[in-house]
Amino acid sequence: MSQTVPMLEIRNITRDYHVPTGFMKPEKVVHAVKGVSFKLDAGKTLAIVGESGCGKSTLARILTFIDPPTSGELLIDGKAVDTRPGHLTAEMRQKVQIVFQNPYGSLNPRQKIGDVLGEPLLINTKMSSAERRERATEMLVKVGLGPEHYNRYPHMFSGGQRQRIAIARALMLNPKLLVLDEPVSALDLSVQAQVLNLLADLQEEFGLTYVFISHDLSVVRYIADEVMVMYYGEAVEYGTREEVFADPKHEYTRTLFAATPRADVESIRARMAKRVRPVAKAG
Ligand SMILES: Nc1ncnc2c1ncn2[C@@H]1O[C@H](COP(=O)(O)OP(=O)(O)O)[C@@H](O)[C@H]1O
Ligand SMILES: [Mg+2]
Repeated sequence: MSQTVPMLEIRNITRDYHVPTGFMKPEKVVHAVKGVSFKLDAGKTLAIVGESGCGKSTLARILTFIDPPTSGELLIDGKAVDTRPGHLTAEMRQKVQIVFQNPYGSLNPRQKIGDVLGEPLLINTKMSSAERRERATEMLVKVGLGPEHYNRYPHMFSGGQRQRIAIARALMLNPKLLVLDEPVSALDLSVQAQVLNLLADLQEEFGLTYVFISHDLSVVRYIADEVMVMYYGEAVEYGTREEVFADPKHEYTRTLFAATPRADVESIRARMAKRVRPVAKAG
């Protein structure tokens, strides 16, 4: 969409799963992602929308190198990435981080929050524990928590706070790209708005590029620069937010839009308009 080299580009990515169906029976092949391509410039947000099972999380795992694609290319800053297991460089791994829908699952209940945030920094063996502590504390403040949270355990936080912690941890190694897989879907509506505002602030402050996965069009309308609609593994719609919302090309997108009451969109806009940023208390 611009002349510059995209921060992220994928070309014709596919992912098949081979599912056993029983003893001596042929495997079933699930084509979870079928030839998806896009380009995304630095600092922008691509929203990927679609109903459950359409391949969003599979694509998220490919973009974050958790799972290699069956075929296709992935380029970061114009350079093809070798996504085969064992071929990925540590530098590449650092550039891309993921935030999942449910931070409960990804936080170790026995680990203090300060240690959760300090852990990624252990790859730098020269960094002192005092410096790790300082960096972790700084990041707590950036996500709207505070130094007093450093020694607390995950169960002592609300869902929204835990999602702030997951975001903080994802940012510890200064990534360029965050893949957010339904990051607010499990949260109450008022908390969703706060976390979305935080993500918008962090994007601006760190110049982050986002791939934001959601099934909620009102959220997408707020956060996206570009929108891709997935349907049974295929990208059936791809364009700027304005293009996709004003003139959806595919029948499925029109159905999806028709199913989203206008009121939803208006209410989320109203919540966003009252952007209140929690102020972290010192001490
Ligand atoms: N590990 C797996 N093994 C087999 N099939 C899978 C696996 N993960 C996902 N699938 C299948 O791939 C399709 C896409 O799933 P997923 O990417 O999780 O969709 P979404 O995130 O949009 O709900 C679904 O049909 C799902 O059942
Ligand atoms: Mg999913």
